Amino acid sequence: MRVSMIGAGYVGLVSGACFADFGHHVTCIDKNDGRIAALNKGEIPIYEPGLADLVEANVRGGRLEFAAEVASVAKADAVFIAVGTPSRRGDGYADLSFVYEAVGEIAPFLAVGAVIVTKSTVPVGTGDEIERILRERRPDVDLQVVSNPEFLREGAAIQDFKHPDRIVVGTNDARARTVLAEIYRPLYLNAAPILYVSRRTAELIKYASNAFLATKITFINEIADLCEQVGADVQDVARGMGLDNRIGGKFLHPGPGFGGSCFPKDTTALLKTAQDHGIALRIVEAVSAVNDQRKRAMARKVVAALDGSLRGKTIAVLGLAFKPNTDDTRDSPAIPLITALQDLGARVRAYDPAAMEQAKPALSAVNYCGSAYAAADGADALVIATEWEQFRALDLARLKSVMAQPVIVDLRNIYRADEMQRAGFRYGAIGRAGVD
Ligand code: UDX
Repeated sequence: MRVSMIGAGYVGLVSGACFADFGHHVTCIDKNDGRIAALNKGEIPIYEPGLADLVEANVRGGRLEFAAEVASVAKADAVFIAVGTPSRRGDGYADLSFVYEAVGEIAPFLAVGAVIVTKSTVPVGTGDEIERILRERRPDVDLQVVSNPEFLREGAAIQDFKHPDRIVVGTNDARARTVLAEIYRPLYLNAAPILYVSRRTAELIKYASNAFLATKITFINEIADLCEQVGADVQDVARGMGLDNRIGGKFLHPGPGFGGSCFPKDTTALLKTAQDHGIALRIVEAVSAVNDQRKRAMARKVVAALDGSLRGKTIAVLGLAFKPNTDDTRDSPAIPLITALQDLGARVRAYDPAAMEQAKPALSAVNYCGSAYAAADGADALVIATEWEQFRALDLARLKSVMAQPVIVDLRNIYRADEMQRAGFRYGAIGRAGVD
């Protein structure tokens, strides 16, 4: 199959490289000439483990290429739209301007019978609008618009693409289904379930899935708060719950609140869709509000660990990315946490293995350091905000020797109280006993 991917960003590049790896011929198209020039030189503009090798192998194999012009969509059996749908400034609706712009640009070139597939996360009914635009611009051809949402986690995107729990294809058109089935055939052979539904249903499956996962996280975060008050251990509560197959153990890790490019914006956009249709999604409303407050509130844990005041204190923050294995700091809990620490009078030293440059525009007066130990140097407390692998086995004796006070606040529960006690630290965690 010949596939065009509009948008060589995160979703477009990962999907394009994986489709090429399945054996299809893929052209990733992006208006950003600089990005295309860099890709043509083998430079990958995003941080995603395994992506550089996958791109390189498929470019070398002649199955993957990059272009700044959309004209090549004329040869495509399927044109995927994988452009960004950020939160619209001011009102929280998904900003669909990049999607409609892309549709307008490809319209004149599309071949008879081409299938247009939306991979971008778009609110229910966007496919109808895309179809309307295309009918208006190209009354001469029969074009099918399909919704095929992605469920890729940053840092594990290639694995998620190649071993999906399900593939969702939203269209009622038999021929479009056949084209999508052919594109995903290698996964179908791996027994990945392919779910054919209506277009609107597919669009909603994406939002409902993300909102549900965000709910699970927020639920366990609130239970963690209760655990702290009643002397229970949230890790054991989550395990005890998760072993029930009806519940499942995934996405029950308590922490400083969910962040990233999807959950925060998708929950807000879902609420907007619901409001427009006169429906109150009260659970999702609560999830969004509780999560927003939680990030900044994490600073109170640091205050408590330092006997009530941060004025004049130095705090080391490990991790700025919203989760490990990414350089993405969008809606990262570390950002409001650091601002709150500064508002309370603390100086902040920070280290992240990949995300320091990305964090800089959102923060000021932070001292960026070259390692966890450099950040800890002279600090009154060390806060673990992101569970990067390299933070899981820190040399505690070394940390203690460089810090002004032996205090660790572990917002990801990656350490145990007994090992901290042995190492002579005061230790605070989420939803379980620490060391005073
Ligand atoms: C998510 C979805 O998982 C993916 O299917 C969707 O298409 C895009 O959004 P992503 O944002 O990359 O992916 O990361 P994910 O691993 O889902 O984590 C999101 C946030 O929730 C992170 O801030 C993470 O730290 C937090 N989280 C996740 C928890 O706090 N606890 C958990 O148990 C799981």
